[in-house]
Amino acid sequence: MTDFLLCKQDEIQDGKGRAFEAGARTVAVFRVKDKFYAFANKCLHRGASMCDGAIADGGATIRCPWHNWTFHLESGRNVVDPSAALRTFRVRAEGDQLILSV
Ligand code: FES
Repeated sequence: MTDFLLCKQDEIQDGKGRAFEAGARTVAVFRVKDKFYAFANKCLHRGASMCDGAIADGGATIRCPWHNWTFHLESGRNVVDPSAALRTFRVRAEGDQLILSV
């Protein structure tokens, strides 16, 4: 497992996401209040960038910007077909910095 220093916590706005390169991967990191979630940036349907998606269901899910496939933020599982899941990653705060483990 490799850690990547992403940015300061306050560089991701509440309810918004950003994409980060982490080795060979692109990872979407979203903030919902003081919680951060990280998952593969590529939608399982047609490959849209999930970092451009919208938080939905009161902060529980992320909706793809292209065709609205929706995934649980915690598990990455699709809300309609849980067998389809975005790979999730651990993201944590150290001081005011965010660290991603992939
Ligand atoms: S590309 Fe994400 S729902 Fe189609």
